[in-house]
Amino acid sequence: MKRFEGKSAVVTGAGSGIGRATARRLALEGAKVLVADVNVDGAAETVKLITDAGGTAESVRCDVSLPDDAKATVLRAVSSFGKLDVLANVAGVGGFHRTLDVTFEMWSRMIAVNLTGSFLMAQAALPHVIAQKGAIVLCASIAGLKSHPYSAAYCASKGGVVQLMKALAVEYARKGIRVNCVCPGGVETPMISQFSLPPGGSPQQLTRIAPILDRYATPDEVAAAIAFLASSDASYISGTSLVVDAAMSC
Ligand SMILES: NC(=O)c1ccc[n+]([C@@H]2O[C@H](COP(=O)([O-])OP(=O)(O)OC[C@H]3O[C@@H](n4cnc5c(N)ncnc54)[C@H](O)[C@@H]3O)[C@@H](O)[C@H]2O)c1
Repeated sequence: MKRFEGKSAVVTGAGSGIGRATARRLALEGAKVLVADVNVDGAAETVKLITDAGGTAESVRCDVSLPDDAKATVLRAVSSFGKLDVLANVAGVGGFHRTLDVTFEMWSRMIAVNLTGSFLMAQAALPHVIAQKGAIVLCASIAGLKSHPYSAAYCASKGGVVQLMKALAVEYARKGIRVNCVCPGGVETPMISQFSLPPGGSPQQLTRIAPILDRYATPDEVAAAIAFLASSDASYISGTSLVVDAAMSC
């Protein structure tokens, strides 16, 4: 499939995990991809993976929680590739913490990266995506749809992403763009190690979010869902949270 031939995309969090898999998938399907991450080494590695496979990609250091970084990243994509068709905002931070152990700084960082970062990247991308009648895909989580243990800040941030996505989808529907999000369950990425039982936590609590299958999703399986939502195959799909969890949250 070459659904993104002639298109340009920004993928945040693309130095690792789901973001890297998404950048590779979009590039494999023809997109010119700006690989954005705070982790410059990870971003450079993703660019190498893409260019070694014959694709087109550049990297940029971007902290999605900073308005100037969000704007500069979008402008970089437009100056490098001439336009912006797709934003896949995948950057995020997570982890299990007992609520009484969460400091103001921990809460603020989680909200800043996961929720404010989604807003800032979408806001910066909107005029360019509207100009191309393109698509925005945000990365929420099933933690944005159902409660997770030891995840008050993470659940609040991802629930916010789901509602942000819906608000943008409705506000800009008649501008010809679509806005959706994916809600993965557990995915085999470096982040999963952050989701371990906190000191004094109850293992029983974790059974509520255990996968039904005997494995987590692969990053490529989530990237495929993001690519679908970003593509014209999803031309009448907007305002949707696509759950990628093999029935775990049913
Ligand atoms: N892994 C899972 O089980 C899982 C489940 C549901 C949702 N998610 C979501 O998927 C997304 C990707 O996570 P992942 O599993 O690939 O984790 P990951 O740790 O492999 O990748 C996250 C990437 O985001 C980058 N990042 C962190 N803060 C950033 C910032 N401020 N600005 C720019 N980049 C930043 C990191 O450097 C890293 O490269 C996150 O939004 C996460 O919440 C993950």
